[in-house]
This record gives sequence, structure tokens and C-alpha cells, in this order.
Amino acid sequence: MGYFRKAIEQMAGYISGFQPKTADAVKLNTNENPWPCSPKVLEAIRKLTAENLQKYPEAVADSFRDVSAVVLGVNPENIICTNGGDDLLTICFRAFCDADRPVALAEPTYSLYPVLAGLQGCEVIEMARDSKGSLGQLAQANAPLTIICNPNAPTCDFIPIDELAVLAGQLSGVLLIDEAYVDFAEDNAVRLINDFDSVIILRSMSKGYSLAGIRFGYGIADAALIDGLMKVKDSYNVDTMAIAAATVAIGDQMHLKDNVKKIKTERSRLTQQMRTMGFEVPDSQTNFVLARSVKKEAKTVYEALVERNIFVRYFSLLGLDDKLRITIGAPEQNDKLLVALTEIIG
Ligand SMILES: Cc1ncc(COP(=O)(O)O)c(C=O)c1O
Repeated sequence: MGYFRKAIEQMAGYISGFQPKTADAVKLNTNENPWPCSPKVLEAIRKLTAENLQKYPEAVADSFRDVSAVVLGVNPENIICTNGGDDLLTICFRAFCDADRPVALAEPTYSLYPVLAGLQGCEVIEMARDSKGSLGQLAQANAPLTIICNPNAPTCDFIPIDELAVLAGQLSGVLLIDEAYVDFAEDNAVRLINDFDSVIILRSMSKGYSLAGIRFGYGIADAALIDGLMKVKDSYNVDTMAIAAATVAIGDQMHLKDNVKKIKTERSRLTQQMRTMGFEVPDSQTNFVLARSVKKEAKTVYEALVERNIFVRYFSLLGLDDKLRITIGAPEQNDKLLVALTEIIG
């Protein structure tokens, strides 16, 4: 066609998880939360007036920064609000990467990172993620931007925070720790921002807080780093409705804890039952599992599930093509999945 920049013509776009149209589909393919958000969120949205929507939103979402700073034990100046965690990733690529400034990643990991690198025209220094997260190799690469997803998608594993601190100390560039799934993990990296002015932590309201439809995420970092990122973001990157919703959601920690507890219970049940069926299912620190299909090809199992209106995620990529990524659903969804898997595996 010739209209686009060469980088855009050459790249493949991000492929989102399939969104089935039928209400009775069992949707376990995009790591959404099966339980609803805090009722306070809907109340806050209902309270909005036409006047609220007539005006531009708060430029840096101060309402959210104030409440979340208390919850996180940081200062509001340590927080940047973004249009989903994905927006923070875009901001970071724009801020730290270009043709001469690569990003370093340990694969497999979140498939959006290489897409954003493609958009920015920056090289991806890629290494295989080993049991230690390939931290030594990432330190050696010493890229201007290093991203480590923790807990990682899609492998569900968790790197101890002390080891991330060692990596941060070795790098001369920025270390972005993607904690989109951290609400389901045992620990988090927030304390690192006190020791390193180069660490950015990504958070999402889509998973633990059941607000994937709202589009709200945020970053936590040293105040000077946040100031720099503010220069890169769109002027009004989070809207009034999202700010209102996310602010009350993060304020309702009881609701989050209850929700996470239910998901962890179902995670243990699904993991155990799938292991009994012969799947290899490593322990997960996220709201999904990555199960290796031992008895039948993963693709065959995936297709047989689709025929039964059950959607999980299959990646036809080296190292992943023998596995299925399955979001932890509500008990009745998980029951349907387990019955279907028993039929398929035989
Ligand atoms: C690893 C990881 N990081 C970041 C995100 C971005 O989440 P959101 O833009 O919904 O906040 C996702 C979403 O699936 C993810 O899996």
C-alpha cells in the first residue's frame, strides 16, 4: 500500500483473545476475573452527572493517586495513572526506546512487548526465560529498558523480589516490573522504588479488581521518573468514569481480598484435578494456569473445547504449543471445563 511507516508495514499487530458472542460460552481465555467488582464502583459511576462528563477529566487523576498512595504506602508523586496497564507500556517504550535504544526481554512473556517494540522501531534483545527468569543474561544485555513480568504471563512463575533487586542494581537502564497479576501472588516489588530510581512497577485494575472493561492501570516509581513519564503520556489519558471507578475500587481492599481468596481456592482445585487427569500444571501465582497436555496434543484439546463452547488460550509458538493457558473461572465454569476435559482426554 505504501502509506505506512516501514516498521508498521513489516510488523504483525497484537492478537487479542477471542471474544465469544454467546452468553452461555465459558470464557477462560483472557484472564478476566469471574467475580464482579466492588458494588461501590457501580455506585460511584451512577453518581456521575452530565456536568462531570462535560468537563475534561483530572489531568493526572489526583483522586486516584491520593487514595492509592495510602493503600500502597507511597506518595502520590510516585504514581502515574494510565489507560490500562497497556498504556503504561506504550508510554515506557516511547520514553526509553528507539532505533538505538533496545528493549531486553526473557521469553515467553506478554506478547504485547514485541509489538510495542515494533511500533517504536527498537530492537528486541530476547533470551529464553529459565527457572531463574534469565536475570543474569538480562543484566549482561544491560538495555536502556528491561522488562520482567512478575508473576510472568503465560508461565505463572514468580521471581523472588530480592533477585529483582540484584538485577536493578546491575542495570544502568530502567527496569520495568510488570505486576499486572501481582494481586494473586505472595509478594510484590513496591519496596524497590525506595532503593532504585530506575525501577517502574506496572499495575492493572483489570485482573484482581475485576475492571477490565474500565481500562485503568498505573505505574509506581521514583518521583523524578514519574515526572518524566508524565511528559510522554497523552494529556487526558484516563477518563472521568475510569478515575471514579478505579478510585473506589482500590479503596475497597476488603472486596479485593475476598475476591482473590475465592480465585486462589478455585486455582488449587483446578490445578489438583487437572494433575489427576494427567496434565502437567506448575503452581501458579496468577489467576490462570499454564497446563501441559501430556495425553493428547494441546491443539486438539483446545479445538475440542471450542466445539463445546469453552474458550481457553492456545499459542502455536515454540515452547508453548504443547500447553493451554486457562483463566481461573467461577466454580461452575471450572466444573464445565473439567467435565469437558475428562470427556476429551478419555
Ligand atoms: C502481563 C500483562 N501486563 C499488562 C497487561 C495490561 O493489562 P490492562 O491494560 O488490562 O491493565 C496485561 C493484560 O492482559 C498482561 O497480561
